[in-house]
Amino acid sequence: MSGHILAIDQGTTSSRAIVFDAGMKMISSAQEEIKQSYPQPGWVEHDPDEIWTTVANTARQALGSSNVPVTDIAAIGITNQRETTVVWERKSGRALYKAIVWQDRRTAEVCDSLKADGYEKLFNAKTGLLLDPYFSGTKLRWLLDNVEGLRDRAEAGEVCFGTVDSWLIFNLTGGRVHATDATNASRTLLFNITEGRWDEELLGLLRIPASMLPEVKDCADDFGVTDREIFGASIRILGVAGDQQAATIGNACFKPGMMKSTYGTGCFALLNTGQDCVASSNRMITTVAYRLAGQTTYALEGSIFIAGAAVQWLRDGLGLISHASESGALATRADPSQHVYVVPAFTGLGAPYWDPEARGAIFGLTRNSGPAELAHAVLESVAYQTLDLLIAMRKDWGGHHIETVLRVDGGMASSDWTMQRVADVVGNLVDRSAVVETTALGAAWLAGSRAAVWPDQEEFGSAWACNRRFQPSMQETERQTKIAGWRNAVSRTLSGSQ
Ligand code: G3P
Repeated sequence: MSGHILAIDQGTTSSRAIVFDAGMKMISSAQEEIKQSYPQPGWVEHDPDEIWTTVANTARQALGSSNVPVTDIAAIGITNQRETTVVWERKSGRALYKAIVWQDRRTAEVCDSLKADGYEKLFNAKTGLLLDPYFSGTKLRWLLDNVEGLRDRAEAGEVCFGTVDSWLIFNLTGGRVHATDATNASRTLLFNITEGRWDEELLGLLRIPASMLPEVKDCADDFGVTDREIFGASIRILGVAGDQQAATIGNACFKPGMMKSTYGTGCFALLNTGQDCVASSNRMITTVAYRLAGQTTYALEGSIFIAGAAVQWLRDGLGLISHASESGALATRADPSQHVYVVPAFTGLGAPYWDPEARGAIFGLTRNSGPAELAHAVLESVAYQTLDLLIAMRKDWGGHHIETVLRVDGGMASSDWTMQRVADVVGNLVDRSAVVETTALGAAWLAGSRAAVWPDQEEFGSAWACNRRFQPSMQETERQTKIAGWRNAVSRTLSGSQ
């Protein structure tokens, strides 16, 4: 069997497909953007059919340009934007509503009322999550309450729910498999992460019929075979993980204490805590890092909703740059005597603040502030937010050994300036992965190892290579002054402060 693997990476802004060879090197790829719809303030939707067609198209393109016969592809690994919620008709596979995207805030009120009724502790203890609109459970509840006839049909067993991985598996297998993996399940607010199963009590509270839910499998498992017509021959689907967990795997953060931070649309830091399912007292979430051979490895996660998206705002919203890669050079021209802070709470604030009503703010403007100072403040906001997460994680996992190296990847990690700032502000070594496609690599490794054509975990971990190491070099007094300025800016941005 050839060791080629097709990785599908269905993200928030685009669908990508990558073919890796037996040496885990990328040999071809294809990408298509997907449309973002904002039908009301705070709402974000995708078209499930477009999600599927862009995945099928890009996979065909990547397979075609790889010149590898489809019969030589050992397996498919899927990774995906997490939490985004899809419902479809079991019989026909027809989507019954738009996909409600993870960034969507329409269920803030449902979350508030569950909190007011005192349920946050229960959800947190069972799922590791908080009652925030970010997660799938309240999105599904909204669909059942608002899409005409959906609840009746769901109760009759005619409707499937899934995160994007499930939607893709269902389509890839011609409707034969309705499954997900433990990492995606752990983002739904419905999955008991210590018992490794859907939780009936939580389903009851959110009034969700259990028949809608997919079967939960390990990350490296048998997810069925693709319908022959899609690629001309069947391919086994053997790996699935949510994108941040796949990046954790792709960064080989397999040992407790290792952590990674991925800078995409948002920024997601995960600290591997091994078999220790750590309950956070500092507003982090506890999540499944991966589940292999029935064994769950947990992580503490800090989720920041806006990172690279703030650079897009500099480009598209303000027109200060024409390409994201110009942001670092612009930031270096900033006047060092100015202290401008941007708090990019465009869709509320995630960890550790969890304030869906907060909105972005700029502080410290003077008559001399211009594009360079704004770019500087936007890039620095990513570093401060990373610091907020790491402080909280260290407190939560106090007493344990946490590595002093942060592995980074994602589009924004290619900015030397920003990564140096992360190292300076966080005060940690920052190692940038040599593989740009860490997320896809993680999904490919799950599939390749399950197919027994790629190395095992240990060998994969030792093959991980760093492209560049960033050493913290900021004076401690300067660092503390800057951090104090950030804290002040955030405190004035929180919704309760206005
Ligand atoms: O939890 C949301 C996350 O999975 C989205 O990741 O890379 O698609 O922005 P990304």
